[in-house]
Amino acid sequence: MKLDASVAAVITGGASGLGEATARALAAAGVKVGLFDLNEEKGEALARELGGVFCKVNVTSDADVDAGFAKSRAAIGQERILVNCAGIGNAIKTASRSKEGEIKHFPLDAFDKIIQINLVGTFRCIAKSAAGMLTLAPLEDGERGVIINTGSVAAQDGQIGQAAYSASKAGVAGMTLTIARDLSSEGVRVNTILPGIFATPLMNAAPENVKAALSASVPFPKRLGNPPEFASLALEMCRNGYFNGEVVRLDGAIRMPPR
Ligand SMILES: NC(=O)c1ccc[n+]([C@@H]2O[C@H](COP(=O)([O-])OP(=O)(O)OC[C@H]3O[C@@H](n4cnc5c(N)ncnc54)[C@H](O)[C@@H]3O)[C@@H](O)[C@H]2O)c1
Repeated sequence: MKLDASVAAVITGGASGLGEATARALAAAGVKVGLFDLNEEKGEALARELGGVFCKVNVTSDADVDAGFAKSRAAIGQERILVNCAGIGNAIKTASRSKEGEIKHFPLDAFDKIIQINLVGTFRCIAKSAAGMLTLAPLEDGERGVIINTGSVAAQDGQIGQAAYSASKAGVAGMTLTIARDLSSEGVRVNTILPGIFATPLMNAAPENVKAALSASVPFPKRLGNPPEFASLALEMCRNGYFNGEVVRLDGAIRMPPR
């Protein structure tokens, strides 16, 4: 897909980190951007800077996502690109014993919350965006749109405490080929990126010694990933018409240890 002002994109989690970097890169290529996020202040400011539109959307809400697509499509047109970056994590062991001998298990509401945001929220945006893309005329090569999801290397090597997070991200990875097949007859491609450890606001807030240890654990290059490197792969997945149904690690060859 040629990226220019004739194309509109929606980026969920677009107010921060990997989503923000992707929105910046798409806007720099001329694409009109719609940002879905909970963070109104950062989202509004970035949308203003990029000449796009901000939509306050919780991806767990059908009504929010419907209203977000309606607002974005009215402002910048039907999106041909959807990039799903909205997501959160938690760290709780499946069952554990405290020093005092108290035994606890992973609370199911905490497990469900991660699944609802990272997995169901991603699918909600995919399904509603894909339905919109089907109304578009195909481009010269028969393509109507492209969808990019954000998993995590935790989909494959989840660390201690990441049962919910790794399940949600493995779900995103697992449905990628299926959805690419579902949408293949309509010319919509679907790919997923599994990032390693990236220097986003969450990670930047960690103490220097923690960041140094994480950087040292990456085979090469020995540093955290930079959000523009994520954006660069996302844009390649948009531009390269043969990129479809793929789940790609972007991680400096890291394999996460148990903890
Ligand atoms: N940073 C990393 O090292 C890393 C590694 C692997 C995977 N990821 C994944 O990449 C994605 C982006 O992470 P990031 O590091 O840029 O984090 P981030 O916190 O900087 O950005 C995530 C954005 O998603 C938004 N968001 C959270 N819940 C939402 C909801 N319910 N509805 C709408 N928006 C919501 C937040 O407000 C935030 O702006 C996440 O899915 C994360 O799991 C990040």
